Amino acid sequence: MRMVDLIAKKRDGHALTKDEINYMINGYTKEEIPDYQMSAMAMALYFQEMTTEERVALTMAMVESGDQVDLSDIEGIKVDKHSTGGVGDTTTLILAPLVASVGVPVAKMSGRGLGHTGGTIDKLESIEGFQVELTAEKFNQLVNDQKVAVIGQSGNLTPADKKLYGLRDVTATVNSIPLIASSIMSKKIASGADAIVLDVKTGSGAFMKELDDAKQLAKAMVDIGNGAGRNTIAVISDMNQPLGYAVGNALEIKEAIDTLRGQGPEDLYELCLTLGSQMVLLAKKADSLEEAREKLEESIASGKAIEKFKAFITSQGGDATVVDQPEKLPKAKHVFEVKAQKSGYVREIIADEIGTSASMLGAGRLTKDSVIDLAVGVVLQKKIGEVVNKGDVIVRIYSNQENVEEVEERIQQAYSITDQKVSVQPLIYDIIN
Ligand code: URA
Ligand code: CA
Repeated sequence: MRMVDLIAKKRDGHALTKDEINYMINGYTKEEIPDYQMSAMAMALYFQEMTTEERVALTMAMVESGDQVDLSDIEGIKVDKHSTGGVGDTTTLILAPLVASVGVPVAKMSGRGLGHTGGTIDKLESIEGFQVELTAEKFNQLVNDQKVAVIGQSGNLTPADKKLYGLRDVTATVNSIPLIASSIMSKKIASGADAIVLDVKTGSGAFMKELDDAKQLAKAMVDIGNGAGRNTIAVISDMNQPLGYAVGNALEIKEAIDTLRGQGPEDLYELCLTLGSQMVLLAKKADSLEEAREKLEESIASGKAIEKFKAFITSQGGDATVVDQPEKLPKAKHVFEVKAQKSGYVREIIADEIGTSASMLGAGRLTKDSVIDLAVGVVLQKKIGEVVNKGDVIVRIYSNQENVEEVEERIQQAYSITDQKVSVQPLIYDIIN
């Protein structure tokens, strides 16, 4: 086989076979196929269609290019959840203990954040003592005992994807639905889950700004997952404004605690119940979505969910007293109030700008090596559709810096307030399976 022939074949719109895709990805991972040939292939793939068989083959070739997490020692159907990324997305912190509390095993490998705010791992590290580095044995044992454990990324997972994603980034070939779908799904499948629930975001704060694109991406990922023998469904949810109120690491832990008690923001609660019900159903811990949802609601109402969160923290060495005494979480020195400059209705809250504001305070990483401040961030006081009066607090800023003028200005610009009543977008647009 020669790579040049495969490039020509794809350029002319023909489907590659599984063997050809394996040859290409193996060769590229081992550096036998150079970047310039892979660049040409990426561009051909960008312009030509890829069949579902090709997408599955590409995904599995990337999965097999490195280590795969083996969860076979864990009893039950392991369901993973993945979000395509948004601002203030606290769902993992809530879903992990919530679905575990009704018997679904959650073996979660999570990343640190780059950009807006930290990742789930960073957020958990705002709890004193919480350990995210566990041996595989300890991790499996915790999931068997507690039904839930979260570890940081380790091992050499999907090196082919890492290389190819980096190459696509500098060759204007990121924005291809089959390539994005294969890239994301390769990482999920290598993480070992039996079934996968995807939260695909759409709106101004999302990777997929348009609903149609989000639907296409969701369908592509679901087809790959199912094609690779992992039961997969996708929920398409709104990211036209940040999810919940809090954006920032310790602030989001507090928000997760509130939500697990049934006292959190409505949108965050609803999204968690929607995603959670799908996870419970895929794990075969309920016979219908309605039954799954009832179980989760009951777990929150009875306190089982919050107790599971405490047990989860304790089992990974963390100080679970923060759950009842959240004042023990890292605390910013200063709180500033951003006030509405006019009366009316909130029409828009540009999620990216709110994320950048939190990042400027120190909540997010600019580079992989940045040290983040777990205490800082912003908490929205008004969301889209709400009435505001001039002078009302719209956002609270939690900062360790004394001068936050620039951040205040950004937040003012992120909010638009209008005289007309605003109709709110739905939170859940579609379920794809
Ligand atoms: N995120 C990924 O992990 N891969 C892509 O290709 C795009 C976004
Ligand atoms: Ca939030």
